[in-house]
Amino acid sequence: MNKILLIAGARPNFVKIAPLHRALSQLCPKIQTKIVHTGQHYDVKMSDAFFEDLQIPKPDIFLEIGSDTHAKQTARIMMAFEDCVKKEAPTAVVVVGDVNSTLACALVCAKLYIPVFHVEAGLRSHDRQMPEEINRILTDQLSDRLYVSEPSGIEHLKKEGIDPKKVVFVGNAMIDTLVHELPRIRRMKLELPRLTHENFAVLTLHRPSNVDSLDNHRKVLHFLKELTTRMDVIYPMHPRTRQKIQEFKLWDEFKNISGLHLYEPLGYLRFVRLLMECQVVITDSGGIQEETTYLNIPCLTMRENTERPITLTHGTNKLVGQNFDQVLRHLPRILRKEWPKAKRIRYWDGKAAERFAKDLQKLRIC
Ligand code: UD1
Repeated sequence: MNKILLIAGARPNFVKIAPLHRALSQLCPKIQTKIVHTGQHYDVKMSDAFFEDLQIPKPDIFLEIGSDTHAKQTARIMMAFEDCVKKEAPTAVVVVGDVNSTLACALVCAKLYIPVFHVEAGLRSHDRQMPEEINRILTDQLSDRLYVSEPSGIEHLKKEGIDPKKVVFVGNAMIDTLVHELPRIRRMKLELPRLTHENFAVLTLHRPSNVDSLDNHRKVLHFLKELTTRMDVIYPMHPRTRQKIQEFKLWDEFKNISGLHLYEPLGYLRFVRLLMECQVVITDSGGIQEETTYLNIPCLTMRENTERPITLTHGTNKLVGQNFDQVLRHLPRILRKEWPKAKRIRYWDGKAAERFAKDLQKLRIC
């Protein structure tokens, strides 16, 4: 019997493996699909909550890696996963996205001659200061089949010398989850905090470039003091961001801003529901740029570049770098509802995972 290992390690991976697992169960019932969780993210709110919300079966294999420096985390995933691959002898391994778990598992497979399939291949920020960019480039070089979510991916892979025969444009697996969960999300009752203004923004920051320096948190504080005079802000905080703020002894200053609501990381359903209620999202996340585009919610991205350029050309996303003044400048237009509307994007239709499973049928894996 053919066997597929589906790898997930960090929060955004869980959102992508949910539809892949479902499509494989429905379209490829004769193969065995096992979920491997590397344990890169391990907090209940960063991991278990997503399995519950998205009704993903519990992982079959848990590697319990946890946090560490990039080299140590990647190396530990590789060591544990090598043993796992030798024991499981899979027909192929599916990795998603661009986190350290993605690259670590792809590299193990390449050395053991196990075919690697990469879902969300080809995205490039062209910024090698981002650990994810290194993970993307190397994972794509190692992969035997590359499933692309937006047309820019096809171009990048071609430029990097990847055989076009290995590249399949299937669409966006993260949007599959959104399409699938929207009815449930719409039925949910969202409890908002007591707001001091009519409008509110959702803020998420977790990239090292935004949260690792004291100077930046000071800028964020200054910005939030100004922004909260105009609208409330809900800030669900990634554990690394909270740790840094506490390390820099700024926690009380954040807590004391009236109109700023600090939250623990939210589960998927509640988070998307929150997005749907807010007037603007300010973020440095990759996935949220796509989700806001699909939902037609204005998004200001606190980065100099994006690996998801279709959200700029067809969506509601705008890059503002680390320039908080620009955020404030865009606000009146957003609040007047004059922000560009998103266009429909090809293959962001809830069927990317289905196309992926059909490709496995074509390859006679299932
Ligand atoms: C990782 C991904 C990033 C993705 C993000 C989503 C890499 C290189 N980065 O970044 O692409 O956008 O996940 O969240 O793979 N921590 C906890 N509990 C957890 C997980 C992390 O407390 O469950 C803390 C740890 O102190 C850890 C830090 O957060 O050191 C960073 O975690 P890590 O997995 O290294 O990277 P992320 O910043 O989460």
